[in-house]
Amino acid sequence: MMGLFKRIFSRTKKIQGEVLVTGGTGFIGSHTVVDLLESGFSVVIVDNLENSSEKVLDRIEEIVGEKAFEKLTFYEADIRDEEALTSIFDAHDIKNVIHFAGLKAVGESVEKPLEYYDNNIAGTCTLCKVMGNAGCKSIIFSSSSTVYGDPDTLPLTEESPKKPATNPYGWTKWMIEQILTDLYTADPEWDVVLLRYFNPIGAHVSGLIGEDPKGIPNNLVPYIAQTAVGKRDKVHVFGDDYATPDGTGIRDYIHVVDLAAGHVAALQWMQGHTGVEIFNLGTGSGSSVLEVIKAFQTASGQEIPYVIEERRAGDIAQNFADATKAEKILGWKAEKTLEDMVRDSWNWQSKNPEGLEG
Ligand SMILES: NC(=O)c1ccc[n+]([C@@H]2O[C@H](COP(=O)([O-])OP(=O)(O)OC[C@H]3O[C@@H](n4cnc5c(N)ncnc54)[C@H](O)[C@@H]3O)[C@@H](O)[C@H]2O)c1
Repeated sequence: MMGLFKRIFSRTKKIQGEVLVTGGTGFIGSHTVVDLLESGFSVVIVDNLENSSEKVLDRIEEIVGEKAFEKLTFYEADIRDEEALTSIFDAHDIKNVIHFAGLKAVGESVEKPLEYYDNNIAGTCTLCKVMGNAGCKSIIFSSSSTVYGDPDTLPLTEESPKKPATNPYGWTKWMIEQILTDLYTADPEWDVVLLRYFNPIGAHVSGLIGEDPKGIPNNLVPYIAQTAVGKRDKVHVFGDDYATPDGTGIRDYIHVVDLAAGHVAALQWMQGHTGVEIFNLGTGSGSSVLEVIKAFQTASGQEIPYVIEERRAGDIAQNFADATKAEKILGWKAEKTLEDMVRDSWNWQSKNPEGLEG
C-alpha cells in the first residue's frame, strides 16, 4: 500500500505542530490551506486527487509565495489507507486535523451508496484510528447544514434538531458527526469541532484557485459559471413554486474565503480545549436561485439562460443560518457579500474556463 502515495516536497527535519488537511487540494481545502499558510501554520495535505488536481499546488504557491509554501507537504494518499496514513503521522508532528476529504455529490450518492459510505464513513474511521494511535486527538470536521433537513423554524441555530437525511451523502455527514461525538464520549481527550457549512461559493480573489468540479457540476454556482463561459447551454432551476418571494429555493451562500477563515478561527480557538463543539458557518441571510443568477449576470455581463424544471426530490424551500455562536465564541463572522461571491466565481471561471486540467 505504501507505493500508493508519494511525497512531492522533501523536508529535512520535523517541524513542530503541523496541521493535517485531508482533502486539501479540493475547493474548500485549498482556500483553507492558503489561509493557514498565510497565518504561519505548517500544513500537510493528504488527498487522493479523486476530485481535484495536483496543479492546485502551483497555484497555492503563486498566492502565498515561495517562503510560506515551504511549510507545505503534499501526499497523494487515500484516507482509507491505514498504512499510508500511519507513515505520514510517523513522519510529521501533526497536532490537529482538518478533515475535508470525502465525496459530496448528492445525486451520485443515491446511485452509489456503498461508495459514499465507504469513502466518507470508513475513511473517517480509519483516519481517527490512526490519529488516536499517534496521540493526535484534535479534529475539525466539514459537516453541512444538510443535517438540519427541512427546518421547522429559521434561522437555524446549532440547537435546531437534526432531521433524518434524504440521501446517502447527508447520512454520511449525520453519522460522522455521531461517530466523532461517540469518540469523545469514549475518550474525553478528544477535541472535536463540527463545522456545519451552508452554501460555499466564490473563489480566491486572485482567480488562481476556485471550484473545479470534475464532470457536470452538482452545485448551482459552478453550473451558472460554466453556462456563462459557454460550456453549458442553460441553468436548470428546480422548482419555482416554493413558498418563497420568487418561488425558487433560498440558501445561505457563503464566500469560500470567509469559510476558510472560519476554519483558522476554529483551529486557533480549540488549542488546549477538549469536547465536542458545533458551529454554523453561514452569513445569516439567504438568496434565491433567481437572485444568484441575476447577480452573476450583472457581475459577468453575460446572459445566463435558464429553464424552470420540476422540483427535485429531497430539496427544501429555504434554509439560512444563525451564525452568532461562531461570532461570539470564535470571533469569526462572514464579511463578503453575494456580489463579492459571484464576482470572484466569475473571475476564476473566466480565467480558467476548463478548470485546472484544461
Ligand atoms: N462544497 C459544498 O457545498 C459543501 C457543503 C457542505 C459540506 N461540504 C463538505 O466539505 C468538504 C470539502 O468539500 P469541497 O467542496 O471542497 O469538495 P471537493 O470535492 O472539492 O474536495 C474534497 C477533496 O477530498 C478528496 N478526497 C475524496 N475522497 C478522498 C479519500 N478517500 N482520500 C483522500 N482524499 C479524498 C478529493 O480529491 C477532493 O480534493 C467535503 O467533506 C464536503 O462534503 C461541502
